[in-house]
Amino acid sequence: MWLTCSSIGRKLVMAITGACLVLFVTFHCLMNGVALFWPQGYNAVCEFLGANWYALVATVGLAALFIIHIIYALWLTLQNRKARGNDRYNVVKKPLGVEWSSQNMLVLGIVVLAFLAVHMIQFWAKMQLAEILHCDYVHEGVEVPPAAGTLFIQIAFSQVWTPIVYIIGFIALWFHMNHGFWSMFQTCGWDNDTWLPRLKKIACWWTTIVVALFIAEAVVFTVRANNSDFEKELIEYNQAKGSQFALDTDAIECGAKACSEAACPEAACPQAECTQATCIEVAAECADGCCADGVCANPETCANPACKGKN
Ligand code: HEM
Repeated sequence: MWLTCSSIGRKLVMAITGACLVLFVTFHCLMNGVALFWPQGYNAVCEFLGANWYALVATVGLAALFIIHIIYALWLTLQNRKARGNDRYNVVKKPLGVEWSSQNMLVLGIVVLAFLAVHMIQFWAKMQLAEILHCDYVHEGVEVPPAAGTLFIQIAFSQVWTPIVYIIGFIALWFHMNHGFWSMFQTCGWDNDTWLPRLKKIACWWTTIVVALFIAEAVVFTVRANNSDFEKELIEYNQAKGSQFALDTDAIECGAKACSEAACPEAACPQAECTQATCIEVAAECADGCCADGVCANPETCANPACKGKN
């Protein structure tokens, strides 16, 4: 078949899959932007894009695009190396007018792929995959619902290494996408003296805006995650869904009101919810003696001073 047998056919496949990936990455940075201004809206979008049939079709399509793009990239690189033989080791004679990124597209692609592997483990595996497999991700002994996108952002970006890995991934993405963007038009024959410089400018602007937005998101998410700012959304999420979970042990300050963490780690509830009936109910259910404002399952082991001496 022409798309697999000829070199220009293979380049066309690279260009088409590359164009679709550029559109995905653009949509993705805009979608993440919602989390900056409207976290509840972001969680609603995550819920919509969960394990529903249309989201699964989109995920399979996206995975196919990535796989085809990568296989063809390796294929074309091997083909070029074979054609050029030992010339590729001649580092003194750099081809004139060829940018650094065009010579390093494979390496840049591998860095983006490595970032993507970390990213999938941090988000996709805990969200969509967990929903497909019906096993919620457990964070500090508490099940986190797959659609709670901002909570996964909090968990991911409260790790010190996350922003570092992401910024490295974004820089590689900038070089890879910038070069790939205009070269796909060149592959399609749109490479005259008027249009090529224009396309290079558009590629540079488009890529810079997308990557700048990703960097801004990573910085804001890191600051918010380390200030535990997403806890407000956590409380609202709990209230809306009637679920009980917390992000970390700092959030469990219910000692005086509902339950101590040591006595009842399962009954984690953020401070603001301690007085709520749902939270107290969960606390009172704990087998090893949790208590909620004087309601003691086991006064002997209960850490709440309000329960001392009660039956
Ligand atoms: C600040 C940076 C980013 C954040 C906070 C972020 C966040 C997320 C989240 C929350 C999901 C799960 C969505 C869901 O399953 O409903 C996701 C999925 C994904 N992300 Fe990102 N992302 C970022 C950057 C990137 C970049 C730069 C790429 C590509 C180079 C990327 C590629 C993907 C892919 C391929 C998926 C899987 C999509 C699917 O399930 O169909 N992400 N991301």
